[in-house]
Amino acid sequence: MREKIIIALDVDTKEEALGLATGLKDLAGAFKVGLQLYNNTGPGIVTELAGTGVKVFLDLKFHDIPNTASRAAEAVVGLGAFMFNLHASGGSKMMAQAAEAAKKRAAALGITPPLLLGVTVLTSMSEHELRDELGVARPLDEQVSSLALLCRDAGLDGVVASAREIPLIRKTCGEKFLIVTPGVRPAWAAQNDQERTVTPACAVNLGADYVVVGRPVTAAPKPQEALQRLLAEMDGEKC
Ligand code: C5P
Repeated sequence: MREKIIIALDVDTKEEALGLATGLKDLAGAFKVGLQLYNNTGPGIVTELAGTGVKVFLDLKFHDIPNTASRAAEAVVGLGAFMFNLHASGGSKMMAQAAEAAKKRAAALGITPPLLLGVTVLTSMSEHELRDELGVARPLDEQVSSLALLCRDAGLDGVVASAREIPLIRKTCGEKFLIVTPGVRPAWAAQNDQERTVTPACAVNLGADYVVVGRPVTAAPKPQEALQRLLAEMDGEKC
């Protein structure tokens, strides 16, 4: 189970991030660098983390013209990330070109290309916002499955999706398509600002390949113990 856990390093400093990664590396599959840590510390944090032997998911959600997104994707490969992402709403041309550019750069460097994920509809977005603010007339579920299919057909490896979207995406995109699910909470943890959470075991049972966990572990007084408890719960829980 531990390979499926991605720890979100949502902290401000390099020292905090490296401290958490060092303490948790034997209990987790990968570590996520998002906008908070990246913008506080710079791209070197990815190289430094990868240099300690951990896998890094760079969660910057690119959304730009195909050329810019592709050049950014090449840079991500050079940093040594194992996974990164972009917004599916950037369109299939942007996604396909970025995927191609990352593969070419990886081949030139003689390394395995990073996994590329699409973000369909942000889970913070409501049906009402999608329709009345963004002008998307079709229902949210349809928008999610249609964008997930667009991701797959553009050559992406998978999507980031909430637990409630997993069955639909599995049905639409098949068994090999990766699903990475944030917003999970062990039974004993606080919900924080997440809504409609499921436990990590339930997310995996629904078909998630990876689950992203942040504060229940990183904000715990003893992060290692919290992650051990979470893993024990995952092994024991029937969902
Ligand atoms: O602390 P917590 O477990 O809520 O952290 C979840 C992580 O997953 C955060 O880094 C958050 O930005 C990210 N995320 C999310 N919901 C999404 C996409 C990403 O919570 N829909």
